[in-house]
Amino acid sequence: MKIIYPGSFDPFTKAHLELTLRAAQLADEVVVLFAENANKEPYYPLAERLAFARTALSNYDKIKVDTCPGLLADYFRDSQADAVLRGLRNTNDLLYEQSMAEVNRLLCPSLETVLLLSRPESSWMSSSLARELAERQADLSSIIPERVLAAHRQELYKLNN
Ligand code: PNS
Repeated sequence: MKIIYPGSFDPFTKAHLELTLRAAQLADEVVVLFAENANKEPYYPLAERLAFARTALSNYDKIKVDTCPGLLADYFRDSQADAVLRGLRNTNDLLYEQSMAEVNRLLCPSLETVLLLSRPESSWMSSSLARELAERQADLSSIIPERVLAAHRQELYKLNN
């Protein structure tokens, strides 16, 4: 089974990592897919976001990282995947995920969206909170995967100087 896990990952957090690893327990292949959210202006450049995720996931052979400049439904069809994965932290997420799953299914009727519940210890995490902490030079170790903390510090230095 091949699972596509799409998102902005701006940046890739410990919650994203946890969900990706859980998906890898269920599937033969997981693709962490950097797609464009028309409602969000990225904080970190795409190249850096990709590098963060690739570093965080470099130990796992069946997890790939890729980009999708267009529609997720087209990528899904072209890559012959079996399902799209999204994480669910709370009921607010549910409404958003429900409409996204429905749009994607209209665009590609075979596209099945699978929702995995966040673990309680990571359900408070969000990329926006990570950005907020980063902007204020706060400690990121609770929310950013350990392997990319140093790279984050370098990137923040670049962004702020
Ligand atoms: O992490 P996000 O920002 O909640 O992820 C949303 C994302 C990027 C997965 C979504 O905006 C998306 O699928 N974008 C690709 C373009 C697309 O297919 N849009 C139609 C479905 S919403």
